[in-house]
Amino acid sequence: MKSKLTNRTGVLKLLFLLPMIFILSACNNGSNLKIFDLKCQSTMEPIGIGEEQPSFSWKVESDERNDKQSAYQIIVADNQRNIKNGQGNIWDSGKINSAKSHGVTYDGKSLLSNQKYFWKVRVWNNSGESSKYSQEATFITAILKPDNWQAKWIGEGISIDPDNELGYYKEPVEIDANGDSLKYNGNSLLLRKSFSFKKPVRSALVNVCGLGMYELSINGKEVGDKLLNPAKTNYKEVVLYDTYDVTDFFKKGENVMGIILGNGWFNPIPKWWSWRMQWYGEKRAILQMQLTFGDGTTDMFIADESWKMAEGPVQHHCIYDGETYDATKEIPGWDTPGFDDSSWKNVKEIIAPKGKLMAQEMPAIKHTQTLKPISITDPEKGLALVNFGQNFSGWIKIKLNGAKGDTVVIRYAEQQKDGMLDVTSNLRALAKDIYICKGEKDEIYQPRFTYHGFQFVEISGLDYQLAENDIEGIVVHSAVDPVGNFECSNGDINKIHNAVLWSQRANLMGMPTDCPQREERLGWMGDAHIISEEAIYNFDMESFYKKWLRDVKLNQEPSGDIPYIAPRNIPEGPAFSWSIGYHLIVWYNYQYYGDNTILMEHYSSMKKYVDFLSSLATDNILPKDKYGDWLSVADGWDRGLPMLNSTAVYYYATTILVKVARELNNKEDVQKYTALAEAIKKAFNQEYYDSDKKIYGTGSQYENAFPLFLNLVPETEKEAVLKNLVDDIMVKHEEHLTTGMLGTKYMMELLSREGRSDVAWTLATQTTYPSWLDMLDGFNTLSEKWNSHVRTSHNHIMFGSIDSWFYKFLAGIQIDEKQPGFQNIIIKPCIPKDLEWVKASVNTVKGKASVEWHQSAEGYTLKITIPFGSQATVYIPAKNIEEVKEGETSAKEATGVSFSEMEGNYAVFKVGSGEYDFISHL
Ligand code: BGC
Repeated sequence: MKSKLTNRTGVLKLLFLLPMIFILSACNNGSNLKIFDLKCQSTMEPIGIGEEQPSFSWKVESDERNDKQSAYQIIVADNQRNIKNGQGNIWDSGKINSAKSHGVTYDGKSLLSNQKYFWKVRVWNNSGESSKYSQEATFITAILKPDNWQAKWIGEGISIDPDNELGYYKEPVEIDANGDSLKYNGNSLLLRKSFSFKKPVRSALVNVCGLGMYELSINGKEVGDKLLNPAKTNYKEVVLYDTYDVTDFFKKGENVMGIILGNGWFNPIPKWWSWRMQWYGEKRAILQMQLTFGDGTTDMFIADESWKMAEGPVQHHCIYDGETYDATKEIPGWDTPGFDDSSWKNVKEIIAPKGKLMAQEMPAIKHTQTLKPISITDPEKGLALVNFGQNFSGWIKIKLNGAKGDTVVIRYAEQQKDGMLDVTSNLRALAKDIYICKGEKDEIYQPRFTYHGFQFVEISGLDYQLAENDIEGIVVHSAVDPVGNFECSNGDINKIHNAVLWSQRANLMGMPTDCPQREERLGWMGDAHIISEEAIYNFDMESFYKKWLRDVKLNQEPSGDIPYIAPRNIPEGPAFSWSIGYHLIVWYNYQYYGDNTILMEHYSSMKKYVDFLSSLATDNILPKDKYGDWLSVADGWDRGLPMLNSTAVYYYATTILVKVARELNNKEDVQKYTALAEAIKKAFNQEYYDSDKKIYGTGSQYENAFPLFLNLVPETEKEAVLKNLVDDIMVKHEEHLTTGMLGTKYMMELLSREGRSDVAWTLATQTTYPSWLDMLDGFNTLSEKWNSHVRTSHNHIMFGSIDSWFYKFLAGIQIDEKQPGFQNIIIKPCIPKDLEWVKASVNTVKGKASVEWHQSAEGYTLKITIPFGSQATVYIPAKNIEEVKEGETSAKEATGVSFSEMEGNYAVFKVGSGEYDFISHL
């Protein structure tokens, strides 16, 4: 009886509990949590990971507000079966209690070269619920140990490498056909190898590099879609190679591998051997393929002296000048089976470049967009002028019809004048491609070993009218993933934003560059750091900067000085405010991506640079800088001025060093460099502050703004200095700025930080000279000078720094220095009176953070999304807390929202992840 009753109760209980169990198990298997964006070394499904301990990242979505990761577990396997069964035979991290979801370092068995690995991750959230395992992801390793390289470098073998103290010829040298061993062949080179496999291939991973640039094909099919590849480095230090999975390229019987070698930055034409381009030696390639056959056996295929070579149709070619392509010299079928290469010469083994071979773990240069012409005119007989309606970097693709030997000349420029091409801003770069027709119908041509910065092209040599469909603009740059979006109700501001995006893309070519059209296109560090935050808001820059920061580090002189162009190790300097790009970009990278390995990698070099500055300082004051507030329009400005710039930069570098030392828990250095910073501050104020006039230096905008920005100004003097700055802008210069490349960024930020966004907004929307809108009058990319109507580059990115001001202050999406990697996001838009709305988002390492605000007579609305794992400090303009609602409820009581305080005219709230809708009265 008793048991019956118990049984009955048990059944009832069970019936009652069933839905509960179901709900709980739904939570426990984490249907609420979705893991996505799995990356290894900041890349999805990467091929060619060179790190022995790569890092992993992922993002999570949750249905709940205020949700975050409390733990994770990663498993890595070397086969799919294990990973499917949840067995990490290579690494099982176990449950790690940590909120970290970006830059988690691999810590399993030693990884092997050229091996495919599978991984997945699961997470636990705030309340201890676990997710399901994510979808599986893969990564393929490159060559992890230098001695795993068995291949040799091959090429023509016509010259010896230069070996002067710089590792390259600095000045142009004569080519002596008899005496000097140095010979130069500026044409492209074709390398080929025919072979067959004895057994069916299960997997083939090829590791390859060609210097200066290369393209690889197998059986006539191009491998990958990288262009102008590999990225430029100081080839005496580092040479980047790629790994490709080419398993599907092979067939039974004869197979052929082909490489086209171009000059790139490695083997430029002698005309340019100087500070711009250095000659490292003749073209060469290396290739090593790891093979696994169907029966499980393995083999290595390496390029050697049995490869054949011939000159290709790309004749004279150069990054600055363009290329000549002689289609009559094409060798049909040269990279396909069945071709007779008996007349080709054998290649020779060539000495390896001095640089260490490293896997290229950064977004490659690619074709990212195609443009159609907006007009084609015929200014003269036989000339076509094509306008693409947009200034950009890349080249054209053209369909041509001509008789054999007809020469078509394509010239590129940013401007036109009186209906003709105006090449003024190319300066000495010829920017000209020449095509010699082979006489077939509809020949298609696009260059491959050069690039141009242009909006217009002039085509001569055709005896017919070019049709719109005959020509396309091929947009080419480092294919960094876009992560930002910004739009507002003011069309002028959107126009500036759009111009910034185009200028930015044109200046990412395996390194940050100054411009894409003239004979520079170099990694000028000043340009790079001043727009770095803009770049980070708009694109995923993490691995791009990782590569470039390594270029910078390798540039460092024994003295500690950092040359102001990277990659390029020519000890000319110092140029303080360019070189601190190193400190700034390391710090931004850490701030925005939250991975402190970047700090560990660079700390000692950063410190060495500060020590170098100390060695140059007299009583903590540095001598004049090399460039100063470059291209400032302040009265009396000249190269290197203002004087205070160098010492302010010294202070800046030192304070960043202190922050990095603090993050790395290096107490001794924190103390030492804090004391140094204090000493510089004191000396700086003694030297440059005029306490009667309440100005710094001559009182120019930059001279007052930069010390304020850096907190160099004594607390008691701040208000007065700020007032003088604002007066200089609003009164003396009638609502205009006078700052140059550096001052513009810091002044805009400082004004907003000090509650004067109204003044910054006046500058941003100013239409007369000097201003962004005046600069863009007639242009769609940013110029080098405020006065864009003089001889200047029309595609410099340096004044694009305003774009981070749009994100930080108009949209109000800011990082919190104390919680890097967007753990806490500060949402604090400024609300200019005549701006109706702003809509912006940033795909952060935690996920998408977005802001959308509107103002009208009815009030102010702010809609935000905070990603899983982040929290936010939200500033809502309001007279008092009672006025603020979130959704339908009073903000004070809303779920996931907590009121912190009233701060001036803002109600400040803390929120967790999720979507929120705030409403207030202004
Ligand atoms: C470049 C700049 C660079 C500057 C240094 C120029 O020629 O184009 O953008 O920063 O030189 O002065």
